[in-house]
Amino acid sequence: MKFFLDTADVDEIRDCLPLGIVDGVTTNPSLIAKTGRPFEEVAKEICEMVDGPVSLEVVSTEAEGMVKEGKKFAKIHKNIVIKVPMTPEGMKACRIMTKSGIKINTTLIFSANQALLAAKAGTYLTSPFLGRLDDIGEKGTELIKEIRQIYDNYGFKSQILAASIRSPEHVKEVALFGADIATMPFKVYEQLFKHKLTDKGIKQ
Ligand code: E4P
Repeated sequence: MKFFLDTADVDEIRDCLPLGIVDGVTTNPSLIAKTGRPFEEVAKEICEMVDGPVSLEVVSTEAEGMVKEGKKFAKIHKNIVIKVPMTPEGMKACRIMTKSGIKINTTLIFSANQALLAAKAGTYLTSPFLGRLDDIGEKGTELIKEIRQIYDNYGFKSQILAASIRSPEHVKEVALFGADIATMPFKVYEQLFKHKLTDKGIKQ
């Protein structure tokens, strides 16, 4: 199972790198805006630090605009993956870019059928948003089980990237349910190491 950092903060990435558990990075426009730095500059710096997929999200809502943005971002670095939303326009853009060799991360996935559509459109990564499902009273991690079964039933190669992870419990569950990747904020990474009995044992 791979671990991605869900951040655009290069200091957080730098802190995690020596631990050897940053297999990739996911960003979104809000995370990049939080840095207060130019988009391309941040994207390039992240790609130079991390040897793995780095997702950058388009903001257009029409396929044509998404493809234009995606092609521009893909030139920044070979490891860039283009995040498109789970909409018919997003899936059109996914097909076009996949055909031209650009890898796609389909984002804002909230149902198994959406994950199925993304796989059929050739997405490289499928991002179900667990925390946001929990926010509306559903059990987000259950979706991972469903997508895993569907992808395995038909041999889809798209990787399940569990996103909107809010806690170590989420990480454990998505690992149990067969997600290929978990992307998480720095604070969740830190919490994964912790157990009160570990601290107690060290004191003893
Ligand atoms: C990652 O690709 C997503 O943008 C991110 O995990 C969303 O997390 P949030 O629901 O906490 O905003």
